[in-house]
Amino acid sequence: MNVLTTVSTNILARLDALATVSESHDGLTRRYLTTQHRQANDLVGEWMASAGMSVHQDAVGNIIGRYEGQDAGAPALIIGSHLDTVVMAGKYDGMLGVVTAIACVNSLYERGIRLPFAIEVVGFADEEGIRFQSTYLGSRAIAGTFNQNLLDARDVDGISMADALRTFGLNPDRIGEAAHASEDVVGYLEIHIEQGPVLESEEQSVGVVTAIAGATRLTVAVQGVAGHAGTVPMGHRQDALLAASECALAVEDVAQKRVNVVGTVGRMTVEPGAANVVPGLVTFTIDLRADVDDKRRDALAELNERIQEIAARRSVEISAQTVHEAPSVGCAPWIVKQIEAAVEAQVGRIVRLPSGAGHDAAAMSDLTDVGMIFVRCGGGVSHNPDETITEEDASAGARLLLNVIENFKPEA
Ligand code: HGY
Ligand code: MN
Ligand code: MN
Repeated sequence: MNVLTTVSTNILARLDALATVSESHDGLTRRYLTTQHRQANDLVGEWMASAGMSVHQDAVGNIIGRYEGQDAGAPALIIGSHLDTVVMAGKYDGMLGVVTAIACVNSLYERGIRLPFAIEVVGFADEEGIRFQSTYLGSRAIAGTFNQNLLDARDVDGISMADALRTFGLNPDRIGEAAHASEDVVGYLEIHIEQGPVLESEEQSVGVVTAIAGATRLTVAVQGVAGHAGTVPMGHRQDALLAASECALAVEDVAQKRVNVVGTVGRMTVEPGAANVVPGLVTFTIDLRADVDDKRRDALAELNERIQEIAARRSVEISAQTVHEAPSVGCAPWIVKQIEAAVEAQVGRIVRLPSGAGHDAAAMSDLTDVGMIFVRCGGGVSHNPDETITEEDASAGARLLLNVIENFKPEA
């Protein structure tokens, strides 16, 4: 029987408080291993402790609260999301999932309820991959799939991840200690804003995630020849920016002509960056996603051909490096079924939808079975300061998550 329990939610107030922890005075930006990452961990750690959890920061910088079950040391249901943000972010992407999970554990704690399994709430340290261009660093460390080569990755200031870890007070050689053993985990749940328009168009506050799209992220360098803007004839130029611009349009074209494939060039740097100099070197990012991995691979193959053709025609060198690759992930049917039962009991109608956005659940699926709940967000807007949710929807998401937790039946 589904228990529809009211969760006293101070969720939005806490998300407002977290949103003040930013590297910038102009909007919310909180990258991995910054002072603001630590401040967010400290704040969230306090909330976890006040909800009856034992709290620790793990070897990669995740903040973890553990709420014991009926038997100390029992395997845990992990419930998490990320505390890092993109640049000029919204307040809810990631943080909603952590704060909501704490509110649910707090409700159990206040009622003295202990379940047949433990609960571990995780605030993942880096999901967006903004600082070192590779995503899911926190969840991959817990899943035991962290790529040690990334320790040499450098941020825009040339600081390596290894040095950033040391400055943060962590030891890069001990990241492996963050890994969980699969026998210590009964499953993974994540609640997250939808970041898309479906729930709003369906007039539904919550939805059941069926799958998470696969993604490939590339960094591309276009090496042309810098030249005088006034003296190099148009027909003699090896203009890196124009070649990069054609590549960006090729990304759009390759994605646009395929169903459920999306392609984005989100960042581009132009050097030397002077008005009277023909650009000699351009670097940019490509983010390509699809619901089905073969489609993504096919799109990448075509894009590669197009880029090589542009390079030859414009006499520039173009090199691309894959910095992130994640296959599409299906949510576990036995967990989806339990979420659907709770949705049915709470709102009567089930909206199922795939996630075009990546989530830590994708990385956690290498460790355990995963399920996700989506909460409606205003206009489907995300990765944008105008991201919004309503108190009612935040509360609906919390009640639903609590219902799933209290009725959770680990797979036999
Ligand atoms: O990019 C994404 O899909 C997620 O927000 N990291
Ligand atoms: Mn995001
Ligand atoms: Mn997110």
